Amino acid sequence: MHDFKYKNNHLYCESVKIESIVKKIGTPCYVYSHNTLVDHFTKIKKAFKDIDPLVCFAMKSNDNLAVLRTLVKQGAGFDIVSVGELKKVLIAGADPQKIVFASVGKTEDEITYAMKKGILLFNVESLPELDEINRIAKKRKRKVKVALRINPDVEAPTYSQVVTGTLKNKFGIDLKTAQKIMNMTKKYTHIVFSGLHVHIGSQITEGEPFVKAIRRVIEFQKKLAKDGIELEYLDIGGGLGIIYKDEKPQTAKDFAKNVLPLLKKTGLKIIMEPGRFISGNAGIFVTKVLYVKDNGVKKFLIVDGGMNDLMRPTLYGSYHEIVPLKKRTGRKVKMDVVGPICESGDYFAKDRMLPSLKKDDLLALMSAGAYCSVMSSNYNMRGHVPIAFVKGNKFELSRKRQTFEELLDGERIPKFLK
Ligand code: LLP
Repeated sequence: MHDFKYKNNHLYCESVKIESIVKKIGTPCYVYSHNTLVDHFTKIKKAFKDIDPLVCFAMKSNDNLAVLRTLVKQGAGFDIVSVGELKKVLIAGADPQKIVFASVGKTEDEITYAMKKGILLFNVESLPELDEINRIAKKRKRKVKVALRINPDVEAPTYSQVVTGTLKNKFGIDLKTAQKIMNMTKKYTHIVFSGLHVHIGSQITEGEPFVKAIRRVIEFQKKLAKDGIELEYLDIGGGLGIIYKDEKPQTAKDFAKNVLPLLKKTGLKIIMEPGRFISGNAGIFVTKVLYVKDNGVKKFLIVDGGMNDLMRPTLYGSYHEIVPLKKRTGRKVKMDVVGPICESGDYFAKDRMLPSLKKDDLLALMSAGAYCSVMSSNYNMRGHVPIAFVKGNKFELSRKRQTFEELLDGERIPKFLK
């Protein structure tokens, strides 16, 4: 479900005609829908209402301040991966006691900062990281709550770059090491072992891998309980897949049906970390046709957006539906939709059937709310594009277009070259 629909042949975001946004802020740009975000957040909350989980939005999927603020207002917590994310989400008004911090490479500065801010949990990804957190906590005379991120060695069927739950991946702690750690908890004088965490990957459309991974972690938790180690939290991560093309992902309800019985039995407070499920279909990317080129072999639609603005197609071969803002009927033709960047990898679609289009036509890349704007770069000296945030019949610029001066900010020619 999302709030991007045609009305009288023009694409709208909620009650705002997207062409009217483009008139004000130009292209390329992102447009986000408030109601879609709230709708997806509520879907998860409702499906799991029996256990009232803490839903920590994975802000790596979309860290726009308007998005974060919307979710803060819904009572969301946040899953963070860096001190930059922590600072940003605190500005959006997040409660530190609803923040969990996973990352395989937390630095001393990051650990110290998060500790000072009093976040809920450090999701610890290795034995040396645990040693480091203990050392820093001791130095600061604090006790910190951690959850061990378990690597359950469960392979999720998704693209290889986002599989995280097998022992070939850098994430989490294998069960043997986790057991070793839990046998020597006394050594960690400044750590409170509060929970277990698991996250096996992203864009997973099936239910079975989640069940398998959660079962493994719960078995471990039961073993710990037998040894007299009581925990408080079980964080089941994110990873729920969404519809980009013709996927049939499990719904929030299906997911709940599959895992609720397991989770309830643990008696633990459940944390979830959905990112894409909440933000994925809440955003689109809007781009304008610059040229239509036909080289006799292929037809290219050259648009003003590039892989630096939205890199999922070239990075993962991901599919994003492409639709014109003004609905077109008539015969469709096969074409590649490409950007202006100096690489053949700079494409949004290959051999896509699209209606006949011409210069200045506007297009939307759908399902661009997760891992799109956040992964953009300044490659080819291109500034970050603006973001419009829509709620009902209102919209505001939530991020302005980055200027040339801002792009250059902080960069200098060394004195010895002057
Ligand atoms: N929790 C942890 C510890 C994570 O690493 C992630 C995502 C999530 C939760 C949220 O996963 P989600 O619910 O969004 O699937 N750039 C890739 C996706 C990378 C996912 C990184 N970790 C893409 O565009 O497909």
